[in-house]
Amino acid sequence: MKNISSSFLKYILGASCFFISFGSVAQKTSKDSIDYKVNLLLQKMTLEEKVGQMNQYNGFWEVTGPAPKEGNAKLKYEHLKMGWVGSVLNVKGTENVRKLQEIVVKESRLGIPLLFGFDVIHGHKTLSPIPLGEAASWDLVAIEKSARVAAIEASAVGINWTFAPMVDISRDARWGRVMEGAGEDPYLGSKIGVARVKGFQGDDLSANNTIAATAKHFAAYGFAESGKDYNTVDVGTSTLYNIIFPPFKAVVENDVKTVMNSFNVINGIPSTANKFLQRDILKGKWGFKGFVISDWGSGMEMVDHGFAKDLTEAAELSANAGSDMDMESYAYITHLKALVESGKVRMSVIDDAVKRILTVKFELGLFDDPYKYCDAKREKELIYHPDHQAAALDMAKKSIVLLKNSNDLLPLKKSQKKIAVIGALANDKNSPLGSWRIGSDDSSAVSFLEGFKKYTTNYKYAKGADLITEPATFINELKINETDISGFNEAIQLAKQSEVVIMVLGEHGFQSGEGRSRAKIDLPGVQQQLLEAIYKVNKNIVLVLMNGRPLAIPWADKNIPAILETWQLGSQTGNAIAQVLFGDYNPGGKLPMTFPKSVGQVPIYYNHYSTGRPGPKPEVFWSHYGDESTKPLYPFGYGLSYTKFEYSNLTITAAEQATIKVSVMVKNTGKIAGEEVTQLYIHDKVASVVRPIKELKGFKKFMLNPGESKVVEFVLTEAELGFYNNEGVFTVEAGDFDVMVGTNSEQGLSGKLSIK
Ligand code: NOJ
Repeated sequence: MKNISSSFLKYILGASCFFISFGSVAQKTSKDSIDYKVNLLLQKMTLEEKVGQMNQYNGFWEVTGPAPKEGNAKLKYEHLKMGWVGSVLNVKGTENVRKLQEIVVKESRLGIPLLFGFDVIHGHKTLSPIPLGEAASWDLVAIEKSARVAAIEASAVGINWTFAPMVDISRDARWGRVMEGAGEDPYLGSKIGVARVKGFQGDDLSANNTIAATAKHFAAYGFAESGKDYNTVDVGTSTLYNIIFPPFKAVVENDVKTVMNSFNVINGIPSTANKFLQRDILKGKWGFKGFVISDWGSGMEMVDHGFAKDLTEAAELSANAGSDMDMESYAYITHLKALVESGKVRMSVIDDAVKRILTVKFELGLFDDPYKYCDAKREKELIYHPDHQAAALDMAKKSIVLLKNSNDLLPLKKSQKKIAVIGALANDKNSPLGSWRIGSDDSSAVSFLEGFKKYTTNYKYAKGADLITEPATFINELKINETDISGFNEAIQLAKQSEVVIMVLGEHGFQSGEGRSRAKIDLPGVQQQLLEAIYKVNKNIVLVLMNGRPLAIPWADKNIPAILETWQLGSQTGNAIAQVLFGDYNPGGKLPMTFPKSVGQVPIYYNHYSTGRPGPKPEVFWSHYGDESTKPLYPFGYGLSYTKFEYSNLTITAAEQATIKVSVMVKNTGKIAGEEVTQLYIHDKVASVVRPIKELKGFKKFMLNPGESKVVEFVLTEAELGFYNNEGVFTVEAGDFDVMVGTNSEQGLSGKLSIK
């Protein structure tokens, strides 16, 4: 297990280090450089003004309504005027943004423009699928485009900073925020995180249609114990370095401008006051040059955690640990000045934070034109633009995963007679927008039925049962219908008279998202009961699932012939699903997260360790359950197509030093064109730190016509073959690896390679 990191790699690193330092020397000497301008401005600032830059307020109110002078919100006019506010969140609309910007620019002493932050998570007005759905496309170009569209719309309403992408890896389907991430895998998650950052930030951050991105939540928020949001995190070093950190590191390397810390404690230290995370790893080892924003009130919450005795101490601990801007704790604006004066927080800490914040403002071009995002004409033209709707439709189709299709029940014939559509979600224009759509308009999705109607009139609809009993809101607990089955009979009668039944079932859009964890991850309410009741009278069912997390649906998998996973697909939901159901689009999505058979299996994920007793064995002494399989319902990377792909000719050859080429032949053996995502997994068989039984290290998405073949090639380098040891050092060890290339994490061709 000798470490064989090549001298070639060191040479490359040496060269880039030289380059970086040369670049920064050159920058410092130029009067046009941002560094120079930031330093000049900093010299003019009072301590109060510096602390002001580190303060972010919520402005969840209409500036065009009550004037800031009168507003009862915490966002005080006086504070803006004094230069005590560096950023606001949740203010949108060119008129509103302009009004606030004008106060700071015209009335404050130094006129430093504000950053306007907003949760632009899967679109702003036009909504794409929820991020977990987008991740199922494995299509980096489409995902980047989706973020680009989101940035165009958000910037058109005055926003210059999004709190996305969430790059938290999670293995727990109970956690509501899995909807906001890219699933369970660090390799896929890194690629998607980078695509999203590129989409938001574009090639030129100073353009008026690009916005600063935020990688969140640093770190380990996705490992909340028992999937309960905000809960304690307890992860080992290897998981931290190899699973949780990689997507953050990848986006930092791709110049993400800000990082948000997280609500959780990790090893007993809240992230907001975690020096190891923010100073040693993020700003130290990774050389992050942007700034860290706290999560909402996460500074203040350290009092409840039992880490800070009061808000003053919370301010001291978080500033010293490298949390540069305070979102909604009022800790910095209230206490930081005194803490500097008493010597508890050094001026250099403040200066470093303020420089980072000002740098992003300069990079956005706000000092050149603070109103660059405030063009009312552009706002009117761009929101809900037809091009954005087209991109959302494309993304939605690509996000759909075909889970089961016995006897080729799908696609439906356009001439199909007597179709029953059943389920409250089929007629819902709100739920498919998913969680995190505060910039958009309620009930603005094309519902399932609206899309379906465009294809056929040969259908009848029956709701069957309500999913919720009271209107859903972003902040309140949902009220799920657990008892009312009075609509069942009508649906049963309809199913009896129909040739095929489409059942649109799943979760409400507000059953996942922040604060929306579930202990049960089956079909909520009376929907399972409804499904079984319909099945009794008509077995020809297509189950269209809408959900924000993996669901445990073993009964449906066993009994229902066709199942389509559609997540929450956003604005274009109904159009996308109809195109797939009627075969105008061949689904090619693959699951970015394992679907369990039952909630008791959770956390269940493909890249687990072996254990010393992997089994199966005839006796009980192996790692398993007595009452449930150890296998998932659908594995990571799984997804079918209306066509079939055949794999052959796996070839593994050593190429240049420390570079290995892997290729495989893929053939479309079906009757229609389709897209496949070929996935490459490795298993490092013996290592100084145990390696997972499988790790995704490459994927390629491509289209094949019927009968067409393609040689799909991958290159494995040290970056793919190495891992982080428990000292956090990246290492490549000699030894044997299994290689698997195939259609999902469980099916493929296997080979071997060795590193000497
Ligand atoms: C709390 C969430 O955890 C975070 O992701 C979000 O960006 C902020 N609230 C702001 O809304």
